[in-house]
Amino acid sequence: MKLGETLNILLRNGRILDPSSERDFCSDLLILDGRIRELAPRISVGAELLREVQVFDVEGKWIMPGMLDMHVHLREPGEEYKETIATGTRAAAAGGFAAVACMPNTKPVNDSAAVTTYILNRAREEGFCFVYPVGAISRGLQGQDLAEFGELRDAGAVAVTDDGRPVMNSLMMRRALEYARAFDLTVISHAEDLSLADGGVMNEGPVSTLLGLRGIPRAAEEVMVARDLLLAEMTRGKIHIAHVSTAGSVRLIREAKARGVPVTAETAPHYFTLTDDALMTFDAVYKVNPPLRRPEDVRAIQEGLADGTLDAIATDHAPHSILEKDTELDLAANGMIGLESAVPLLLDLVRQDILTPLQAAAKTSLSPARILGLPFGAFRVGSPAHVTVIDPDAKFILDCHTFQSKSRNCPFHGRQVQGQVLMTIVDGRMAFSRMSP
Ligand code: DOR
Repeated sequence: MKLGETLNILLRNGRILDPSSERDFCSDLLILDGRIRELAPRISVGAELLREVQVFDVEGKWIMPGMLDMHVHLREPGEEYKETIATGTRAAAAGGFAAVACMPNTKPVNDSAAVTTYILNRAREEGFCFVYPVGAISRGLQGQDLAEFGELRDAGAVAVTDDGRPVMNSLMMRRALEYARAFDLTVISHAEDLSLADGGVMNEGPVSTLLGLRGIPRAAEEVMVARDLLLAEMTRGKIHIAHVSTAGSVRLIREAKARGVPVTAETAPHYFTLTDDALMTFDAVYKVNPPLRRPEDVRAIQEGLADGTLDAIATDHAPHSILEKDTELDLAANGMIGLESAVPLLLDLVRQDILTPLQAAAKTSLSPARILGLPFGAFRVGSPAHVTVIDPDAKFILDCHTFQSKSRNCPFHGRQVQGQVLMTIVDGRMAFSRMSP
């Protein structure tokens, strides 16, 4: 990675949020040679060592395990004018993320060891955080033939998905779940019935009627969620439902979990924050797939996060250039960037008493790490330090022109927010900091 020296750092008087031990307490954190050395109130460091250690007073600030975003589009290879591994991981680090999992809908599609290896090599050379590639379910995302899951896994893919597109053929989804089981890979479902979606540009409901725009019914998502839950139940293959956007999907997943179906699920900040009222502006920055829904969906998603139905929060960071976005809704591309706006939106949930600070930390570190089988979400003495420090009180205006991402399609631009990333430590090195010792 493109990071500097390993750190000797003492964080003083922070609020440690450790989801792995479910502890929320005030403490110091000492990092030596890039590894977590000690976690205790009032760590005393000898005068000699102190000379080599940078000390930061982080009283009142949150110290969380380095966050992991399990759903990011880095666009490299193939669409480097939208984002690259360098700019995307820089944006991730600025947003508090120590690691991202990147979706396979690149050009070429990541359906082979060659592309997975290319991404990993680029990340090693240019990355500002860890990158975990997700391989395709079907070759070329065409939904015709399965990709070689074993080859993908051996090259470093951590899951499989056709994200951006659904697997429309149910037999293919069944086979994918069975095949993935053999390699202990999770299948990530982009749940969308294309025939029901029918080329819509926004949620089907009163606002689409008012605006005269073609709508996408909630059922377009829910029938596929239901199908994939049934297939996971039948095959015992692990299914993960991506970008959950409707109350009905939350209900289906909740019921399936109660029956013991091996399912996990994520939602994105825009689905617990925005509604389709935003489309009244006709601004394509609000066009995303699945689409923004109604207030009752937003409430159900917040409840699903609170009660554990929705395990993880992932951004679905989907960079697009002005060419794809600054156009009429029908023609505009789907997607919004999310890496650099996630933390204040997450903290909104805490301020609204929907999530505890520990839950907020879990949904952005431990839970996605468990789903993908990655070593994040805990503070372990002796382990390389991945740490995110947040000032929960800092108020500021989100300005996408200051973002590290190459793209500007941020629906939260200009919003007054609270909660700012101060520091992202990745593998014991400083990936982002707005603090001085
Ligand atoms: O809005 C979206 N954009 N949804 C997806 O599923 C894909 C993504 C993209 O790649 O732009």
